[in-house]
This record gives sequence, structure tokens and C-alpha cells, in this order.
Amino acid sequence: MKKLFDFFYDEINFKEVFKDPKRLIGYSFIVFFLAIFGIGLVYLNQIDQFYRNETPYDEPDPAKLFKDVELTLGRKVEGVKVELIKQPTEEMLKRGEEIYKTTCSTCHGEKGQGDGIAGKGLNPPPRNFAEKDGWKNGRSITQVYKTLQEGIPGSGMVAYEYLSPSEKIALYHIIKKFGTDFPDITDKDVAELDATYKVTQTYDIPPTIPIGTAVQKIVSENDTLSKVSANIVKLLNDPEIKNYVSDPELFAGFLLKVSGKGSDLENLLVSNYPLNGVSAKFIKSNSVEKKRFIEKLLSYKF
Ligand code: HEC
Repeated sequence: MKKLFDFFYDEINFKEVFKDPKRLIGYSFIVFFLAIFGIGLVYLNQIDQFYRNETPYDEPDPAKLFKDVELTLGRKVEGVKVELIKQPTEEMLKRGEEIYKTTCSTCHGEKGQGDGIAGKGLNPPPRNFAEKDGWKNGRSITQVYKTLQEGIPGSGMVAYEYLSPSEKIALYHIIKKFGTDFPDITDKDVAELDATYKVTQTYDIPPTIPIGTAVQKIVSENDTLSKVSANIVKLLNDPEIKNYVSDPELFAGFLLKVSGKGSDLENLLVSNYPLNGVSAKFIKSNSVEKKRFIEKLLSYKF
């Protein structure tokens, strides 16, 4: 032990060190080592603090992960007569002009020179229809139709796919007039437009219902349905009703069908006899008895 102490004493001879401070440099690595070791300990101890998330982790909202369709009414899209693609009717042109004024001129300008108020500051700027060069999709009727159908991604030009084929074709003719050297529509152009966008075909766009709403509707319908069926089961066990029923199964089916048509019930009971399971006794009964039977039925709210 003493030996070890002497060893250190010799090695770390502080008197010598103070006499010659340059020797300190030799020991400085110990200081560094200790310092780094100390910082390391603090670091490990506080690692949570160093790596604390700046933005707290958000549980993703499942409703946002899955985008449901919107509730839309179905509609019919009328096809355009093929000869009207080259030569639209006055009515079509008027409609095109109307749409241009209300929807397009804010950006493209009243005369189509790309100088509308809403277009100021847009980058890229709205197309000047009088200029021949620089068109992204191009100036043929199919190309402009594509622009209207899909928009120009990454620009202020959004898609106007909701416009009917007839409206889009009319808009092409409006734009064409703003330029002086638009190419004429050839038969090939017409064929290409129809092949790509089926503009001459009339078709139905079916209505869409969001899945959430549909499920709710089914659930609520089944809910009323099960209530109605439960009430029908109850009324079939009522002696006053049994009295006038010859076939309970047929009668139950009939009631399900006429559920909610209370005011017309007498008529329906008589006119559907005997397929509705009502007995001949009911048919032969007088009006007071009939009325009592129907009131009894309706008291079950089927
Ligand atoms: C909000 C402003 C805005 C409105 C409204 C707007 N556009 Fe545009 N449109 C633009 C911009 C911006 C461009 C240029 C896009 C580009 O060059 O990337 C453009 C480009 C176009 C082009 C040229 C596409 C090509 O090939 O380069 C056509 C054709 C066009 N618009 C038609 C219309 C019609 C028709 C309407 C109305 C139904 C309309 N735009 C409404 C902003 C608008």
C-alpha cells in the first residue's frame, strides 16, 4: 500500500509541478478525461431532455386517413351532336360566353389576354389566348378540353370537369376567337376528341352516398324494420286480431308491405284478400267491426 502511495507521490509530485508548471500539460489528459466522462454521465442522465420531441406525436385521426366519397345527386350528361363540335349553335356559344365572363375572365381577362384581376401575381401567369407560343397542353380542341377537364397541375388553372361537354366545347370556341391564328378544327380533331372524351355519348353519373351515411341509413332502417316486425309478432298473438286472420304468415308479410299506410288500410285489406291472409270473416264483417279491427291493428304501430 505504502509502495503504491509512494509511486503516486513520485509521479504526482505537486511541489515539482508547481515549480515547473509546464509539467501540468502532461497531466492535463486526466483532467480532460474526467471532464468528458463527467459530461457523458450528465448526458446519459438527461438523455430524455435532449431528445424530447419538439412536436408531440399525434394519433392519426382515422377519419382523415380514409377519404369518403361525397354525397352527390346523380345526373345525366348529355352528349353533343358530332356536327356541333365544329359548328356550335348560337345557344351553345351564348352559354360559353356566359361561363367565360363569370368564371374565366377574372384570371384570363375580358379579351383573353391573361390580364384579369385575379390573375395578377399568379406564377405562372394566366395564359394570354392571343399568344401562340408557350402553351402547356396546346391549342387543339382536344388539348384545351384536356386543360378544362384536368386543369394544369401546379398552377392557378384548376379543373372544370363539372362543366358539360357542350359547355367545354363552347368555351373552346370562345377562346379560339381571342386568338387570330388558331388552327381550324379538322375531322381528325373531332374524331380524336370523341375518342378521348366520349363527348357525343349521353351517360348517367350515378349518385354517390358516403359510406358513413349509408351505414347510418341502413342501421336506422333496420332499426325501424325490427321494431315493426316485433310489433307485428305481438299483434298476431292478439285474440281480437287472430279472429280475422286465416294465415298469420301471409298476413305478417302483407303488414310489412303496407307498414305506414294506415289511412288506406281498409281498402288494402279488402282488395288484397285472400292473398293477404285475412279471413273471409273480415270481408263479411260490417263496417263498425271492420273499423274496430283496423283500429286495433294500428294500435300496434307496425
Ligand atoms: C384562378 C385563375 C384562373 C381561372 C379562373 C381560369 N384560369 Fe385558365 N389558366 C390560369 C393559369 C395561371 C394558367 C397558366 C397555367 C400554366 O401555364 O401552367 C391558365 C391556363 C389556361 C389555358 C392554357 C393551357 C395550356 O395549354 O397552357 C387554358 C386553355 C385556360 N387556362 C382556360 C381557362 C378557361 C376556359 C377558364 C374558365 C372556365 C379558365 N381558364 C379559368 C388561371 C386561371
